[in-house]
Amino acid sequence: MGIAADITDYDWEAAFAALSWQVDLGVTEVMAEAPIDRYALPERQAHTVQKPAALQATANQPAPAIHDAPKLDTAKIAQDLAAACADLASLRAALESFDHYEMKKGARNLVFSDGNPNASLMIIGEAPNREEDLEGRPFVGSTGQLLDKMLAAIGYARGAEDAGKAAYITNVIPWRPPGNHDPDPEEIAMMQPFLARHIALINPRLIITMGNAPCAALLGKRGILRLRGTWAETQGIPVMPMTHPAYLLRTPAAKREAWADLLAVQARLEKS
Ligand code: URA
Repeated sequence: MGIAADITDYDWEAAFAALSWQVDLGVTEVMAEAPIDRYALPERQAHTVQKPAALQATANQPAPAIHDAPKLDTAKIAQDLAAACADLASLRAALESFDHYEMKKGARNLVFSDGNPNASLMIIGEAPNREEDLEGRPFVGSTGQLLDKMLAAIGYARGAEDAGKAAYITNVIPWRPPGNHDPDPEEIAMMQPFLARHIALINPRLIITMGNAPCAALLGKRGILRLRGTWAETQGIPVMPMTHPAYLLRTPAAKREAWADLLAVQARLEKS
């Protein structure tokens, strides 16, 4: 997203505050009121090198239409990259090098994961918010604080040394989408091979999905208010879909059902 700005009347603090506010809104481009043809500026023209005649001729040809360029099969690229990752370090490196996800360009950090990689419980959220983007760790803002309380209530903690009491946390989308928009089906499909590989490498005993995006990625279904509380399965691992902690913060009455889902998770983990 871009936004027009005229900050000539601002002092440094005011300009910084205005810019921070726009970043919070998801602005990723800064532009002036009117377009500037920088090639026409006098200082630019002084540096213009005359092209040889042959190149001049090709320069005058119409540019090839965009649709003439071969279209990249980004889903295939993601699948091949993810399949080649033998461990978490190479999965992280593969994501760092994956440049086909446009939204990545507005993010500050890759938000890969947090917690004990040997954990029996894996939590999969949707996508990082601003705090997570700044810190490079999932679920560190207010939703993260609620998530930690929910885990503690059933005796689990991210990063607990005892793998049997530990949780490992990641998201479907590892970069903050501009303006915190809900990941769309195309974005989810592009990142799905990386998530599937992440799950295979952690190989938890049980997965909790939080919100719609991980249900779409792993179960091919949406409608979390209908799906929550009903056991499902992905890659041979039991999955408990739960409402997202952000929803629970907005809708405290839903905490009752979330508590029932947590108890079901605890019982299944103790039994297995
Ligand atoms: N919401 C998510 O789904 N993931 C995070 O990491 C933070 C908020």
